[in-house]
Amino acid sequence: MSNINILFVGDVFGRTGREVLSQNLPEILKEYNIDHCIVNGENAAHGKGLSMQCADEIFAAGADCITMGNHTWDNNDIYQFIDDYAVIRPVNFAEGLPGKGYYVIDGPCPVGVLSVQGRVYMEPCDNPFESAYNAVMNLRSEASVIIVDFHAEATAEKAALAYYLDGLVTAVVGTHTHVQTADERILEQGTAFISDVGMTGPHNGIIGMDRTAVINKFVRCIPQKFRPAEGKGKLHAVVIKADTETGRAEEIKRISLDY
Ligand code: FE2
Repeated sequence: MSNINILFVGDVFGRTGREVLSQNLPEILKEYNIDHCIVNGENAAHGKGLSMQCADEIFAAGADCITMGNHTWDNNDIYQFIDDYAVIRPVNFAEGLPGKGYYVIDGPCPVGVLSVQGRVYMEPCDNPFESAYNAVMNLRSEASVIIVDFHAEATAEKAALAYYLDGLVTAVVGTHTHVQTADERILEQGTAFISDVGMTGPHNGIIGMDRTAVINKFVRCIPQKFRPAEGKGKLHAVVIKADTETGRAEEIKRISLDY
């Protein structure tokens, strides 16, 4: 029996997030003996979307695949490279849109990566449960190890998808809220789960944005221009250890590092 270690890095937010990643990811990959690295990059370009330059930075830091979410189309650059890069957007977006919802990272043990978006308190999209199940069935012929990024707001929806896919995938990791949860565990049939991996970016803002505009929005209820917060950064991630034959998770470990 052999196993591999996969690092999943929580939403990289703006310049601070990209710098934290570029400066520290290579060392983290070594320290945790990581075979493959997946990064959620949907907030990498100024907090909204992903430019080609930001994608290049994230890959140069050591990522094998970038996952997206509700901000997939916020930076127009994405249309130039989403079909060619190892960048995946939620599989349950409207049919015929550019890009792909899942991807297989090549290697001695190929790793399937799937992106799905939730529907609770999110923009409308197709049924995440049906879409995820169908995509997993396709991926299973190519990879025994499968990691699902469930980009969603509600913890109940995230837990429901994790249990729905328990035993069919290696891990279901939540993204989008930018708050790392302490509920990481391995479910009964061997799927690792965490409600939210957290955020890699400036942690003295409000979910990455500068505090003043966010507070004004809540206090005064008028539109505000948001900009990414500055200052010190954090890296949030999980390490998943997987059995390469069965695809079952053996361990899921949270990482939260201050920089
Ligand atoms: Fe998001």
